[in-house]
Amino acid sequence: MINHQSSLEFLLSRASTDQLVDPVPQGKQLRAILSAGLRAPDHGKMRPWRYTVIQGEYREAFAKVVLKAIEREESHLPEAKKEKRYHRFSTMPMIIALGIHIVPEGKIPVVEQEMAAAAGAMNVLNALHAEGFGGIWVTGAFSTDTELLEMLGLKKPDCLAGFLFVGTPEGSKEDRKRPDIEKYMALWEGKPVSFGANVD
Ligand SMILES: Cc1cc2nc3c(=O)[nH]c(=O)nc-3n(C[C@H](O)[C@H](O)[C@H](O)COP(=O)(O)O)c2cc1C
Repeated sequence: MINHQSSLEFLLSRASTDQLVDPVPQGKQLRAILSAGLRAPDHGKMRPWRYTVIQGEYREAFAKVVLKAIEREESHLPEAKKEKRYHRFSTMPMIIALGIHIVPEGKIPVVEQEMAAAAGAMNVLNALHAEGFGGIWVTGAFSTDTELLEMLGLKKPDCLAGFLFVGTPEGSKEDRKRPDIEKYMALWEGKPVSFGANVD
């Protein structure tokens, strides 16, 4: 039987981290974690999820692809920032590219396809946490680059929701302060609601 109390505590304990080391999920475990992504709500069974796993010796080559995309799309960035991105993509234990296959002309609005992909990414982050791994979801303007997309099996209007950096969290970090739910929820009682979060 599922212990709902501990399942909820588990969800409330997830936090992003980029302090990641080996090991990374492999084989059946990796596939089970990514399968959690495919459990996301998906209006019209669009199945937009396209996960590409980058690891081991291929990280360096992929970091070079990212760097070239940055040169094309974000050439204004300071060299130090470009170098930092290159370093992260070549050294993170595992990278999962979050591809979104888009069907532009159809019954299901594109934003709903994007939301299904985003919901999948969140499920993957929670599944990683459930298996003792950690990660962080990152993006960048470079991720619209056509050649980068092609490397990831994506053809526009397909796009990327970003990347998950994945690994085993190094050490235990104190969680950052989380917002107070009272400011982010309302009980509707027949009149327009207001949110504490909207008040400065
Ligand atoms: C679509 C998306 C893109 C993000 N891109 C970045 C990013 O490029 N760099 C970054 O440091 N955090 C990025 N974040 C935020 C982190 O993934 C993470 O949520 C944040 O560090 C707060 O950590 P938490 O998940 O523990 O609240 C992004 C989040 C989302 C949903």
